[in-house]
Amino acid sequence: MSNAPSLQLDSATLVEAYDRLGIRQFHHGLQLLDVLGLREGERALDVGCGTGRLTESAAQRVGQHGEVLGLDPLPLRVQRALERAQGRFAVRVGRAEALDTVPDAHYDVVYFNSVIHWIPDQAQALREAWRVLKPGGRIGFTTMPEEAPHDLHVVLRALFAGEPEWQRAGIGAPNKLTRERSAALLQGAGFEVTYNEIRTFGDSFDNVDDVLAFSRSSSFGNFLSSLTPGDVARVRARLASALEPHRSARGYALTRRMIIAAAHKPLAH
Ligand SMILES: C[S@@+](CC[C@H](N)C(=O)[O-])C[C@H]1O[C@@H](n2cnc3c(N)ncnc32)[C@H](O)[C@@H]1O
Repeated sequence: MSNAPSLQLDSATLVEAYDRLGIRQFHHGLQLLDVLGLREGERALDVGCGTGRLTESAAQRVGQHGEVLGLDPLPLRVQRALERAQGRFAVRVGRAEALDTVPDAHYDVVYFNSVIHWIPDQAQALREAWRVLKPGGRIGFTTMPEEAPHDLHVVLRALFAGEPEWQRAGIGAPNKLTRERSAALLQGAGFEVTYNEIRTFGDSFDNVDDVLAFSRSSSFGNFLSSLTPGDVARVRARLASALEPHRSARGYALTRRMIIAAAHKPLAH
């Protein structure tokens, strides 16, 4: 995968799978909303809202006097988010790097939940977030720390190490950050960092197909997309064996670590 993931691989099947399996992203997303202190009456922008599960929670938090907009570049995910919204929040197709339809200084909170690592030009995305935030507004994101990868990625990296062809496939998202780079990115855009920690979450997966469906749907089809069907079958078989040491009573037990970073736009700038 280059540093720009394909936005052409999504499908109704992947959307349905993400809506079910993306409950994991939802859980750390709720923690992000807590860290950001999103409250009643505020305006929030959910960049890369996917199928809108967290957007719905944000809308519940801000209530009827607040306002929430979700943006995502994938029309099928926007469609699912719109079905979920039932008019309680707005959703549109859009990309983080070009928030063209969003007015200046409009939002109290802008957040990216499990999104920033997919964005090729992260600095441009943060410049846009800065533009649409009110003075004093808050920004936050969750992302996979490069320095403390998901257990699944550790297993996959070991599997892929001996297979030059497989290494092209990439593991996880192409633009991962560390805590240090997260802070530098926010500060580079002019924000003052208020929170920057790695939190740990327990993931359980029923079987190897559940793992693959999670990875494919979370990456909107990019995971293993460059491999032949034969190689994908080989990855599946070898992954099933490699995950055996992680088997527990509730399926494979794997640990996910996430950076939660938050910052604010200074009142005077
Ligand atoms: C793992 S999903 C997270 C979805 C949602 N935020 C959630 O918490 O469930 C990643 C999302 O990032 C979106 N995305 C990818 N590139 C993007 C970009 N350049 N700008 C905005 N969103 C992007 C994808 O379309 C996808 O919906």
